[in-house]
Amino acid sequence: MALRHELEDVEGVGPATAEKLRSVGITSVEALAVTPPRTLVEIAELTEEKASIITQNARALLNIKFTTAKDVLSKRANIGFITTGTKSLDNLLGKGIETQAITELIGEFGSGKTQICHELAVTVQLPVERGGLGGRALYIDTEGTFRPERIMNIAKGLGVDPDEALGNIIYARAYNSDHQILLVDEATNLIPANNVRLVIVDSVITHFRSEYPGREALAPRQQKLNKHLHQLLRMSDIFNIAVVVTNQIQSAPDVFFGNPNKPAGGNILAHGSTYRIWLRKSKENRRIARIIDSPMHPESECLFAITSEGLVDVEEPR
Ligand code: GTP
Ligand code: MG
Repeated sequence: MALRHELEDVEGVGPATAEKLRSVGITSVEALAVTPPRTLVEIAELTEEKASIITQNARALLNIKFTTAKDVLSKRANIGFITTGTKSLDNLLGKGIETQAITELIGEFGSGKTQICHELAVTVQLPVERGGLGGRALYIDTEGTFRPERIMNIAKGLGVDPDEALGNIIYARAYNSDHQILLVDEATNLIPANNVRLVIVDSVITHFRSEYPGREALAPRQQKLNKHLHQLLRMSDIFNIAVVVTNQIQSAPDVFFGNPNKPAGGNILAHGSTYRIWLRKSKENRRIARIIDSPMHPESECLFAITSEGLVDVEEPR
């Protein structure tokens, strides 16, 4: 968003209300616009009427309303792309990882999900001419696998100052699923002020799977996961940023024909993500990426490799 608004710019928000909102962590108009009025009543002790009016006014200020297809098209013209550092993966996706969308990386252990996240955390910082968005990355790490040393190597490989690259990645470790959701809530305040153009959640599913084991827990788990994905999608849309999440593979014992493995997270993740990329290991450092379930792309595959300096193209032997 080109223009930054302060809370006081919202009709109905005076200095006292602004102060109250800030004290409970709602520090931007965007955050106000996406907070349910019910929550405002609870945490900021506003009346229901006031809460409802100011969230509506915040949305109006940000132009969140019904639009025509023409407006949708012109909004889509603002979509930005982040290079994966390889031509093959960029082509598979069209032009790279898109803003206003959730891209899901699926794959078994060691398939390269976390490596792609590291790569993108650096390439998003590149200027537009080099395939970046000249912005920062926000990295939400649920598994403790983020490695600054990797970032430095990737940065060097791209001719970016490693120190600068590290400084442009905002990092948070999420310790459980509630914390993960809370961090995304807080991100709403942080994104516009810090020129964040990419949010990574690696992995989006781990905490949900471990905290809600078994069939009985499936319904509440999926409900919460759904809320989380909507939160991410809304964020990608409002701020015109890219969201990248990673997901694991689970085996489906009831499948007798074809691939017995499927992405975890069920329909909620399948429908929540805009683009899904399935990664597989190939020989040595090579990986195969396949785009699945895409509304815009034919189902196709490509090859890339993981090196110490990040992702690279592979000349496909014929
Ligand atoms: P899980 O999180 O365990 O599900 O796997 P993942 O899909 O996130 O795997 P990850 O992205 O961590 O890929 C790990 C692989 O990347 C390793 O097996 C290595 O092949 C490769 N890799 C990681 N770091 C380096 C490095 O510094 N140099 C090189 N050459 N390869 C690396
Ligand atoms: Mg990983």
